[in-house]
Amino acid sequence: MTIKNICCIGAGYVGGPTMAVIAQKCPGVKVTVVDINEKRIKQWNDPDVEKIPIYEPGLSAIVKETRDRNLFFSTNVDKAIDEADMIFISVNTPTKTYGIGKGMAADLKYIELCARQIAAVAKNDKIVIEKSTLPVRTAAALKNILDNTGNGVKYQILSNPEFLAEGTAVEDLKNPDRVLIGGDIESEEGREAMEALVNIYASWVPKEKILTTNVWSSELSKLTANAFLAQRVSSINAISELCEKTGADVNEVAKAVGMDSRVGPKFLKASVGFGGSCFQKDILNLVYIARTYNLKEVADYWEQVIIMNDYQKRRFAANMVQTMYNTVSGKKIAILGWAFKKDTNDTRESAAIYVADYLLNEQAEIVVYDPKVTEEQIYSDLDYLGSRSGDANRQAVTVVNSPMEACKDAHAIAVLTEWDEFKQLDWKKIYDQMLKPAFLFDGRRLLEPNTKKEIGFEFYAIGN
Ligand code: NAD
Ligand code: UDX
Repeated sequence: MTIKNICCIGAGYVGGPTMAVIAQKCPGVKVTVVDINEKRIKQWNDPDVEKIPIYEPGLSAIVKETRDRNLFFSTNVDKAIDEADMIFISVNTPTKTYGIGKGMAADLKYIELCARQIAAVAKNDKIVIEKSTLPVRTAAALKNILDNTGNGVKYQILSNPEFLAEGTAVEDLKNPDRVLIGGDIESEEGREAMEALVNIYASWVPKEKILTTNVWSSELSKLTANAFLAQRVSSINAISELCEKTGADVNEVAKAVGMDSRVGPKFLKASVGFGGSCFQKDILNLVYIARTYNLKEVADYWEQVIIMNDYQKRRFAANMVQTMYNTVSGKKIAILGWAFKKDTNDTRESAAIYVADYLLNEQAEIVVYDPKVTEEQIYSDLDYLGSRSGDANRQAVTVVNSPMEACKDAHAIAVLTEWDEFKQLDWKKIYDQMLKPAFLFDGRRLLEPNTKKEIGFEFYAIGN
């Protein structure tokens, strides 16, 4: 089966970059990315390619090359579904905020809406691909909806979870560690559908890196991969506090531990806590699934990764207050970095939001600088927490366009995202413009400590 026409529902952090790379690598395939969010689609179609809604290194160049050649962005979901042989569902699957499973389970309403729309529109056979991260066995629900509400056409449902990380999405998509495809390996039609997707990826990914398996293993592998990665961060963060108490240095410990080839060096960087749209949501989902099967010990084990992460964010903020003589009331604190990691404008679950909220509860005045995050986004993140009124957030938080402006007359600075540019700042000049003693809290182990101490900063870093 040769695929000529792909539709992707959801033009977000996954749908946009993933389809851009497919369009680039498969020039003979027409790829249409659709979304109900008109503003987002308008931004994807902005004649100035630097204004696309997602900042990822290398992405705008690919969009420039492929857009209106074989990559299209549209709000006409029905048309794109109708024309496609293969439909990726790449919509958001946030944690439920209501009803059964509130605060734990994945909210599948957007997925179900997609399935119902596909069923209503499709007039010929389709391969439907779960690109979103989903609870194990979701494919069964999708199939049920498609088979029972559709126009009698045949569907093959595949699971093809995405492993890209934000900030390195393009590189991850071009050179993935592996591509995972789950399908109905028992049936001929299932195997054919899997082969069709394998062939798309095989345009640029070596065949030995394309794994095929059954749907349930594929769905569960994605949740498991994120749980393992997050667990490493929580593990090293747990050790960071012990380092602070004992005089050990968490970077040295991580290096020594990571050089054991059985452990490996990656994902052992202590921080103010992991953020991002995936880790917390996916672990909560895993915990919820384990609980629904009455696997208490399994659920408790993974839940601890989240408990540790929440503690790390709180602990960092509490340490700031404690260090500054137990009060930050009325003090100006500069936050450098709002994104959940460098090289992205995504702020979902960013540690900065929680640290700022903690400091605001202590009546601090906050000034934020981030090179890629908008003022509107920062206020919206704080408003979403509901800790205080929107007006109160706007009164206590200022967003500025330069780090120098953020730090002027500040009592303290907190570095919360590891943007490269923070390393190059004129720290002496910053120090001179601050109130004294000038406190500098490094939540990312980004800055070289000795030079900062020599300048005169009261310098604190996670795990040191
Ligand atoms: P996102 O919120 O950036 O994008 C999702 C998009 O889907 C939104 O633009 C939304 O408007 C659109 N949408 C929702 N319902 C729709 C519908 N019925 N019809 C058309 N469009 C609809 O989300 P994301 O970060 O791209 O994540 C998507 C999925 O991929 C999630 O399941 C997530 O867990 C998973 N994932 C994300 C990442 C990541 O780094 N962000 C990595 C791997 C996997
Ligand atoms: C993650 C997974 O890595 C990716 O495979 C999956 O597809 C989506 O979720 P992402 O959330 O985009 O990707 O970024 P990631 O690089 O994993 O970082 C997540 C958070 O952990 C960030 O806040 C980051 O700063 C933090 N982190 C990561 C650490 O604090 N220390 C580390 O050693 C690594």
